[in-house]
Amino acid sequence: MMLECVAMTAADVDAVVDAEARSHKFPWTRGNFLDSLTAGHGAWLALEDGRMIGYAVMMQILDEIHLLNITVLPELQRKGLGSSLLLRLFEMARQQAASRMLLEVRPGNVSALGLYRRHGFVEIGRRRDYYPATQGREDAIVMAREL
Ligand SMILES: CC(C)(COP(=O)(O)OP(=O)(O)OC[C@H]1O[C@@H](n2cnc3c(N)ncnc32)[C@H](O)[C@@H]1OP(=O)(O)O)[C@@H](O)C(=O)NCCC(=O)NCCS
Repeated sequence: MMLECVAMTAADVDAVVDAEARSHKFPWTRGNFLDSLTAGHGAWLALEDGRMIGYAVMMQILDEIHLLNITVLPELQRKGLGSSLLLRLFEMARQQAASRMLLEVRPGNVSALGLYRRHGFVEIGRRRDYYPATQGREDAIVMAREL
C-alpha cells in the first residue's frame, strides 16, 4: 500500500474537522485549519488507496519547519501509518530546504511522544502552561530533529 500526500483544500476541511474531533481531547477548530490554509502553511492530507487516513500541518520559518499537527484516524492508529506520514513530511521538508523540524507535544501524549522519539526527536526545552488542560494549563515539551 502506498501513502500519498496531497495538499489540503478548503473542500477537505469538513472531513478533517470531523476526524480531528474524534482524535484529540483538545481538537483544532475549523477556524484553525482555515487559518492555516490562508496563511499558506503546508497542510497535507494523507491518503491510502485514495482514502484519507490522516493529515498534517507544518509551518516553515526560514530553514525550520514546525510540525503543528499530525493525526492518524483513531481506528487506523498503531499500524505504522504515523511513521510513514512523518517520514514523508521529513522528505517534503528537505525538499523545501529545511534543516530542522520542531514541534510541541503534551507530556501526557504517550503515543505522540513515542512516535517522535522513535524518529529521532530530542527534547530541547519546555514551554510553561502552553496548553489548555482539563484543569488549568499543561506545559509543552519542545522537541527538535535535524533533517
Ligand atoms: C501520534 C499518532 C500520529 C501516531 O500514529 P500511529 O499511526 O498510531 O503511529 P505508528 O503506528 O506509526 O507508531 C509509530 C511509533 O510510535 C509509538 N507509538 C504509537 N502509538 C503509541 C502508543 N499508544 N503508546 C506508545 N507508543 C506509541 C511507538 O514507538 C510506535 O512504534 P511501534 O508501533 O513499532 O512500537 C497517533 O497516535 C495520533 O493521531 N494521535 C492523536 C493525535 C495526536 O495526538 N497527534 C500528535 C499531536 S498533534
